[in-house]
Amino acid sequence: MMKTHTCGELRPANIGQAVTVCGWAQRTRDLGGLVFIDLRDRDGITQCTFGADNPLSEQAAAVRGEWCLAVTGTVRERASKNRNIPTGEIEVEVTALRVLSRSATPPFEIEDEVKTAELLRLEYRYLDLRRPVLQSNLKIRHRAMQTLRRYLDDKGFTEVETPILTASTPEGSRDYLVPSRIHKGTVYALPQSPQQYKQLLMVAGVEKYFQFARCARDEDLRADRQPDFTQLDIEMSFVDLEDIYALNEGMIANLFGAFGIDVPTPMPRLTWHEAMEVYGSDKPDIRFEMTLKDLTGPTRNSGFAVFDQARSVRGIVAPHEFTRKEIDSLTEYVKGLGVKGLAWHKAESSGFAKFLDEATLKDLTDRSGFAPGSTLFVIADGDETLTKTALGALRLECARRLNLLNPNEFKFLWITEFPMFEYSEEEGRFVSQHHPFTAPLDGDIPLLGGDDLSAIRTKAYDMVCNGYELCSGSIRIHDADLQAKVFSLLGIPEDEMQRRFGHMLKAFRYGVPPHGGIGFGFDRLTMLLCGTQNIRDVIAFPKTQSAAEPMTGCPAAVDPKQLEELGICLANSDQ
Ligand code: AMO
Ligand code: AMP
Repeated sequence: MMKTHTCGELRPANIGQAVTVCGWAQRTRDLGGLVFIDLRDRDGITQCTFGADNPLSEQAAAVRGEWCLAVTGTVRERASKNRNIPTGEIEVEVTALRVLSRSATPPFEIEDEVKTAELLRLEYRYLDLRRPVLQSNLKIRHRAMQTLRRYLDDKGFTEVETPILTASTPEGSRDYLVPSRIHKGTVYALPQSPQQYKQLLMVAGVEKYFQFARCARDEDLRADRQPDFTQLDIEMSFVDLEDIYALNEGMIANLFGAFGIDVPTPMPRLTWHEAMEVYGSDKPDIRFEMTLKDLTGPTRNSGFAVFDQARSVRGIVAPHEFTRKEIDSLTEYVKGLGVKGLAWHKAESSGFAKFLDEATLKDLTDRSGFAPGSTLFVIADGDETLTKTALGALRLECARRLNLLNPNEFKFLWITEFPMFEYSEEEGRFVSQHHPFTAPLDGDIPLLGGDDLSAIRTKAYDMVCNGYELCSGSIRIHDADLQAKVFSLLGIPEDEMQRRFGHMLKAFRYGVPPHGGIGFGFDRLTMLLCGTQNIRDVIAFPKTQSAAEPMTGCPAAVDPKQLEELGICLANSDQ
């Protein structure tokens, strides 16, 4: 046995025991004969002491940071205790020191307070991962995965793996493509999600499926997005919306409960329309109020052109009197979102009071809920959606600046009844807001024949927490004719429909159970549990904002022979 204990577990109860611990030298202190090595492993740090008369002192003093060591000795009480670490009351008086391997000088110190640029840390990710905070995040991720697996297993779900090399499935993002060597001129796509496979598993009678599925999407990256990420993917047959809400609420309450966080259920629900109206967002952070108020009515014919000419006038009241300088910076912030300006009003001064008569001003401030001590912000714009989303973003920005976002509070809710279609200016046609397998609300099915597709609502839902979209899902269309109708409304021609989705339509001719499901962003769930806003903190080997992986250097050029075998030639390559 190479070691008897971890570096985090020795306590006063171990005093007198002979132990061997293995790990990395966090640091070596040489106090003239008396030498200390702090030995670190994934579990913690143990102080290893070489007394003045210890024959190993000289060898110990030569140990440098990150050398890998095995240390044998006797546990004893420390003379000066360190109450900040769990092993701070003991130390190991060393009787044998084995250097398992030496280390080059690391490019940065292994400590939680990082000053090093992330790019360098990612290049040396194996060193970065030695930091306790990342070790802890990996453990949290693992525990979350085991907890979810156990829960779903207990509920009778079967974990099924689906292919990585697959046909393209529409989740609204660009595919990563893999050229085929055997079938020249054709490609596989990496899964944006296992959406079609899981629905086909329902046709196959699996009834309750889940998978921790690796997904890949070639899209613009953000703090909560990676090109390849993990979904907890779930699908169930013979269920209605309530079954799905209940299962997932139970699962999330059980998961957070395992980490000591109470999640009250049932979770509140807002329709997509309400969320946009009240929070200006389809993933609202409801840890604080500051809700949007529609002020369009009272501002009609106000005499103030900015308000009169706008189709939509809306406001929020921030619980703080912002200074002019702060208002200027918030104005710049919203202008960056595409609106033309920001009107503001405080008890002592106002950007627009002078343009309005007293009655209009009173009506406006009353409806907004304005009170002295706060600031009323108003955005007026011709585009109603933009007015709402810009105010929604301003609402969040004010909350950030006013420290209203309590990191220890978790407020979950469902957003329901998403619109089925949204118009894409870019493509000049309606596209699915979610994916084309989403079932419309029963009452809205007749609208599929009408000309206002934007009014059709679906049985789709997102679970949201603290401003993060944790998952999306829906009850699916299980009727081949309705599915074909939706494809045609999306403007997908018959031949393309057959080519891309023929297998689904074919399968749907053989007795499809009503089914529905959900895909959780597992990385995002883990971010909440780890208390980080950076998705790279919860992934062992993440990619940068530009989709590169600095440690292995991918994406990278390949041997021209490999390309030749695939029958492809890369244009615009730097090589
Ligand atoms: P959707 O496309 O909404 O739905 O994805 C589900 C969840 O996956 C997470 N997610 C991501 N996480 C990190 N990086 C990314 N690039 C990324 N993209 C998505 C989000 C999101 O809510 N097949 C459907 C689910 C279903 O209908 O069952 C789907 O994939 O948390
Ligand atoms: P202007 O007429 O552009 O000088 O703007 C007069 C006031 O209205 C200023 O306080 C602007 O910040 C504000 N304002 C301008 N455009 C908008 C807008 N689209 N929505 C809200 N307020 C605006």
